[in-house]
Parts: sequence; structure tokens; C-alpha cells
Amino acid sequence: MGGRFPFPGLPSGWYVVAVSEEVKRGQIVPRHYFNQELVLYRGDDGVVRIADAFCPHMGAHLGRVGKVEGNILRCGFHGFQYDRQGRCVETPYGGPPPARARLRFWEAREQNGLILTWYDAAGEGYDWEVPVLDDARWNKIRWRRFDIPTHPQETTENSVDFGHFTQVHGFVDGSITRAIQLEGPLLTTAYRAHRPIPMPALPLWKVPVDYAVNVWGLGYSQVDVRIDPLRFDMRVWVLPVPRDDEHIDLVIGVSTRKGLGPLSAYARRAVHKIVCKEVEQDLDVWTYKTYVEQPPLAKGDGPVAVYRRYVKQFYPPIPGASDQRAVDEAVTAAAEAAISSSE
Ligand code: FES
Ligand SMILES: [Fe+2]
Repeated sequence: MGGRFPFPGLPSGWYVVAVSEEVKRGQIVPRHYFNQELVLYRGDDGVVRIADAFCPHMGAHLGRVGKVEGNILRCGFHGFQYDRQGRCVETPYGGPPPARARLRFWEAREQNGLILTWYDAAGEGYDWEVPVLDDARWNKIRWRRFDIPTHPQETTENSVDFGHFTQVHGFVDGSITRAIQLEGPLLTTAYRAHRPIPMPALPLWKVPVDYAVNVWGLGYSQVDVRIDPLRFDMRVWVLPVPRDDEHIDLVIGVSTRKGLGPLSAYARRAVHKIVCKEVEQDLDVWTYKTYVEQPPLAKGDGPVAVYRRYVKQFYPPIPGASDQRAVDEAVTAAAEAAISSSE
């Protein structure tokens, strides 16, 4: 991968390819993700499936000429029919369908109102999952999709890029309340920042906002947000999925805790707007920046170096690059040590 992003391909992980309400019963939804054509469809059984878009018979695009009939996916070019395992079970010609007419299915999970698939750069299966959250006491997700010329590693790095919260988002008095921790594919940290709110004829009101960040690979970040003085809780999802090597779709989802009474509908709309506005503030940085491999980090930057070490597990090892990797790791460790000794 060249250009602005010198990463060894697209990172493996779980990615949100649609929000549940986008795929209705009987509907086929085409997607161009991971440099590939995919289709999502929901059969009569209510289950969402994700498949390659091109019909294995003679290549028609099932997202354009396909139909869902019951739980069968039927290609509109020659009428071949595919079952819930992707096997061709019938052709209009009669006789046994060709064994090689087999549609490749992708992993599909539907949880918390989101549809996820596993992408693996090396073609391997998944070895971890994104946890299902108990959402009984939470409102349905409000969401918006942004189309951004960047890479998931860049947008996810934002969650540990402490310095930009003040400069880009206008927060003040930020502090890390829980140090960054890595546990396999999970990265967690927490911080508190204050949103200054001017009050007529009163001193500036600095509202404390607490963020607990849960990053599950580069496609799925979920942040618990708490505004203590208002007793307000929300969950924010930051969900990038690569369209190709230099473009992502970024879904921002927001869910508020039930029980805000008549304020609920208004509050849900308002906080979703605020969160999306914060993402808009990041857009010019993401759209035009380049990736600096060994940034001269300063105290106050946040645990960017730890994040850079964390992300490596999601890329396939580069053949013959073990020496370089050792060098990278040594440099990263030295940067981390320099930062922690200056704190
Ligand atoms: S291309 Fe799909 S049935 Fe022929
Ligand atoms: Fe940001």
C-alpha cells in the first residue's frame, strides 16, 4: 500500500457493514468494501447473510439483478438459486445444479442493531468476537455514515490522540483517568475532559465529560460517555470500514440510556447531532493528513505509541520483515519510555 498510508494492506477484524434497519426482510443491499463487491440480504427467517456479490455461474451482480425469495437468493441472469449455505439448489434447466456453482458466504453477526462481518487479510477465520452489549435499557441507535478518504488505522488512532481533543474539539482540562491497557484485540482507556459552556453573566461552566473507550480492532470502537452533573449516559460507536485502500465509510452510532422521560426524543436527537459535529471537526485532518511512521511524540500526546504497537497484530506479517519489526518495536518502546519518564 503506497500513497498516504504505508500500511501492509487492510487490517483484519470485525467491521460493521450495515446498520440492522438498512437490510429489511426480502431486501438485498450491495456494498463495496475491502476492495470487493458484497451483498447483504435478509431472508424470511429474519437472518442477515453476507455473500460475494458476483454470481458464481457467469458473474452477474446479485446486488443488482438478484432477488430474495423466501430464504433463497435467486440470480436474475439465468435464474440459478442459492440456499442458506450458498449451495446452488436449483437451475431453471432442471437436472442437478453444477457442484461448482457455490456462492461464498462471509461471517455475519447481527448484534446491538449492527451487522458485522469478519475481514481477514490472510483469508483466515476469526479468533475473537466483539461482545454483545445488554441494550435492554438503551434506546435504539441513531446513526450517520460519513464517506472519508482515509484508513481505519487513522480514524481509530483518534481515540488515543489526547492532544487533539483541545485543539480540534475545544475541550479543556483533560486528563487520563484510566491508563491504556492492551488485552489481545482489546484496547481500553478512559479520560475526562471538560466542555466549556458560556453562561450569561456567570463564570464559564466547564462540564465534565467522562469517556471510557473500548477498541476492538480497527473496525469497532465503542465509547461509554457519562456527563455526571446531568446524570446523562450514552454509548457512542465509531465504526470505520474500508471501501478500498484509501477510503472508508465511517458509521457513527449513538444510543442514550432509557429513562430521560419527555426529554428523551429531544435529547437523543441533540446528542447525536453534537457527536456528529465532533466528527465533522475531524474531517479536514483525516482527509488531508499523511501518516508519520515515527512521530516525534511529546508529553501530552496521549498513548499513541502504545496504540501503534497494538495495531500491528491486525496485519499479516511481512515476509522477511522480522528484523524491521524488531527495529520498529525497539523504537516504539524507546518512545514510550521517553514519554513516561517525562510525566
Ligand atoms: S450469472 Fe447468475 S445465474 Fe447465470
Ligand atoms: Fe477527534
